[in-house]
Amino acid sequence: MPKTTIKIFDTTLRDGEQSPGASMTTPEKVRIAKQLEKLGVDVIEAGFAIASPGDFDAISEICETVSQSAICSLSRAAEKDILRAAESLKLAKQARIHTFIATSPIHMEYKLKMKPDDVIRRAVEAVKLARSLVDDVEFSCEDATRSEMPFLREIIAAVIEAGAQTINIPDTVGYAIPRNYEQFIREIVSFTAGRAAISVHCHNDLGLATANSLAAILGGATQVECTVNGLGERAGNASLEEIVMTLKVRKDLFDGADTRINTREIYSSSRLLAQTCGIEPQPNKAIVGKNAFSHESGIHQDGMLKNPLTYEIMRAEDIGLERNTLSLGKLSGSHAFREKLAEMGIVLDGVALDRAFKKFKELADKKKIVYDDDIRSLATSEGATVPSEFELIRMQLTDCSGGVPTSAVTIRAKNGEERTDAAIGNGTIDAVFKAIDRVSGYSGKLLDYKVEALSEGKDALARVLVKVVFDDSKPAVMGHGLNVDTMLASAQAYIGSLNSYLAMKDRLQKFDPQSI
Ligand code: KIV
Ligand code: ZN
Repeated sequence: MPKTTIKIFDTTLRDGEQSPGASMTTPEKVRIAKQLEKLGVDVIEAGFAIASPGDFDAISEICETVSQSAICSLSRAAEKDILRAAESLKLAKQARIHTFIATSPIHMEYKLKMKPDDVIRRAVEAVKLARSLVDDVEFSCEDATRSEMPFLREIIAAVIEAGAQTINIPDTVGYAIPRNYEQFIREIVSFTAGRAAISVHCHNDLGLATANSLAAILGGATQVECTVNGLGERAGNASLEEIVMTLKVRKDLFDGADTRINTREIYSSSRLLAQTCGIEPQPNKAIVGKNAFSHESGIHQDGMLKNPLTYEIMRAEDIGLERNTLSLGKLSGSHAFREKLAEMGIVLDGVALDRAFKKFKELADKKKIVYDDDIRSLATSEGATVPSEFELIRMQLTDCSGGVPTSAVTIRAKNGEERTDAAIGNGTIDAVFKAIDRVSGYSGKLLDYKVEALSEGKDALARVLVKVVFDDSKPAVMGHGLNVDTMLASAQAYIGSLNSYLAMKDRLQKFDPQSI
């Protein structure tokens, strides 16, 4: 196979949005489109112009904002759809109309109630009309993988003749199997003989969308349609990040075929999408899941510390993820424990270190997660000097029912100095954290805040866990607080995260943009 650049056609804003609960507003879609442009996708399918005024507006606004990626609107093979698509794309620097009609016997007979010859006639008229309005036209044979090859040959030849430059062969219902799909695509590539680019669009009903897309690339497809986080109808579409990273990591098998994607923007794109539509990728999702780069087993942690390539085939930095500090659990070994202490600036050795490690293992057996604060208390109980810059002395909150939430905080610095200051906030927690920022002189960005009740009843102990960034060029740090009063536990957690940051800031790894 000659070296090829595979075009990435992103349909997060169209097929992705068809995922239940994923609908987005126009400003949200524009923000995501800008991120997709930064990610380097070749084509952004921004919506289905005729489907709703909201889709139409979003496509138009995206055309005004995005210049580096082509913008595409979907349309059925119908005159009114195509006219509306062209209108929505009026301001695009590069406009594409994507028109489709079903080609499988079951769809033609029961859904379209049309004879095959009429389907071909309709497809040709649609492509001709689209080509009279924009320079770039894609045609999709919906349900292609359940269509008959002789009919596909006929309709594809006709639409190429009518002016379509890209022919998409969707696995609409996620029915294909990699080996067969590769062969199917190879046959189409062979008879189209370079007169059009062959695209694939795979759904994940059998969990094979990425595998099928990659098989199609081996079969000669030069465009893949996919979504960030694999979002999409039913079980989703092929996942952009999985396809792109597979091509990068397994260059050897794809004869160097690559994409124009800036992989360091993958993680930000995934986060933006998850936060916008409220659908988190599953924790074990390849590439972007929360656990994709975290190693729990002691053997793995030990190997990772010696050389990250022992257990990782790509670096977290390659997808723009700052390498996490080590997360310790019951499977962590003494190497990881020592490394964690060093990372936290804690000096402990000899018998005291052995005893602390033993206590850590006992604790890890009882608790799901061992927090940095747990390790700090363990180490202090063994006589270690633990750097802790600030300690919470007092905290006051005004009654915030209807008023402006205000908090006053007193902390003691390492040199014994007591400092007090107050702040107002958008809510009580915000007021508490802002008061701590003022009194400490550091300003944190809260990434995550969780409260859990550790016992039952009204006087339950609350555990608060926070994840905060104090410096944009360093990774986030965690802190936790435990108290019957949730506000006090929150203040302790925030101060704990600040203490961790101050203790580790020189050792926290900076993100190296040259790393890929
Ligand atoms: O899955 C599908 O067939 C589609 C087409 C409209 C391309 O989304
Ligand atoms: Zn689809």
